[in-house]
Amino acid sequence: MFDVKKVREDFPILGRSVRGVPLVYLDSGATSQKPFQVLDAERHYYENSNAAVHRGAHALAEEATDAYESARETLANFVGAETSEIVFTKNATEGINLVAYAFSNATDKARHGLEVDPRFVVGPGDSIVVSEMEHHANLIPWQELCAKTGATLRWFGVSDEGRLILEPGVIDSSTKFVSVVHQSNLLGTINPVKEIMDMAHAVGALGMVDVCQSVPHMPVDVRELGADFATWSGHKMLGPTGIGILWGRNDLLNAMPPFLTGGSMIEMVNMDHSTYAPAPQRFEAGVPMVAQAVGLARACDYLTDLGMHNVFEHERELTAYTLAELAKVDGVRVIGPTDNSERGSAVSFVVEGIHPHDVGHMMDAQGVAVRVGHHCCWPTCKRFDVPATTRITTYIYNDKADIDQAIAGIKDAQAFFGTSSKVSA
Ligand code: ALA
Repeated sequence: MFDVKKVREDFPILGRSVRGVPLVYLDSGATSQKPFQVLDAERHYYENSNAAVHRGAHALAEEATDAYESARETLANFVGAETSEIVFTKNATEGINLVAYAFSNATDKARHGLEVDPRFVVGPGDSIVVSEMEHHANLIPWQELCAKTGATLRWFGVSDEGRLILEPGVIDSSTKFVSVVHQSNLLGTINPVKEIMDMAHAVGALGMVDVCQSVPHMPVDVRELGADFATWSGHKMLGPTGIGILWGRNDLLNAMPPFLTGGSMIEMVNMDHSTYAPAPQRFEAGVPMVAQAVGLARACDYLTDLGMHNVFEHERELTAYTLAELAKVDGVRVIGPTDNSERGSAVSFVVEGIHPHDVGHMMDAQGVAVRVGHHCCWPTCKRFDVPATTRITTYIYNDKADIDQAIAGIKDAQAFFGTSSKVSA
């Protein structure tokens, strides 16, 4: 295990106060804070090697290209991928859109009689499968694809305990693509993604896993997911904003039409047509986010030094504590699994008689930063018949004292709104 006190010293922002009290940051599911090591790596890059990569014959261009490509290698090693399978995107949302647009573009091209890989062509009679606990980023791109192509969107439902109901027949011979979340950002549930990807492959469909909330928090080997694609953001794993990763099997990435087109992604250009570079360059049009890649690679090294198994165990312990302490507060209901198996550290809850936004404001007055709202999972909130939740998410720099402070904030809210006597009566 690592020393949380020592880890905290690496995060300058954790030294500040908010509302006149020390900051307690419990919103890492939205975005994580950044250690000096990541900030320094970005600064060092800008101060010493800044240049546009993959172009230019000068020393800085060469150094910048080396830094960018070496970051790709670090990311690949972090998740057990081949370097050529790592595509840098703006964020995970772009990673999912990139794949959805590959289907949309291939389908358009097929309609015009152009040669495309049939695995990416969808139309009426085909289905795309997601789940009822997807982030909007893993729902709306598929709604759009279905609207454009005439394919049907299907989904696995969610049980009262916040687990996926893997009903037979949702995936069937009509299914062309399955995209599900590994760990729910709202419920905290860790889904059996290998089983779901095996179901997809059994009917000849391709599959993707949204690993935004798992890669930062537990050891993830992309091959063990059993998927064809996976995507996540850098900013939730101590890295900078503005960078995400799409991992895809080499053969598939090279068979897909591009998403964004322009410089850097080409093989040859004529006035009337062009051919495209192999992956990953095929999906990286324009000057990419080099400093962010350098910072993100440093974040991977930081996490590797702590040990991803240790990160997972640390959060497991904190989640057990969070669930136990919330259970002691009358009027609090957790939305999502209340047992600590197959779940991560996102804990959503509602407080009887108080809107989640008001709970969040009262916690903020204690210096506690949590997320409130539908967490970009509106259909999941509807499934649980709640307009919104308050959500605690922990990371490597949190300890039990942070949870105690959060609980104090909830109790303050109950006292302020006069619900504590009502709920304990
Ligand atoms: N997707 C991020 C969250 O769950 C922003 O908060």
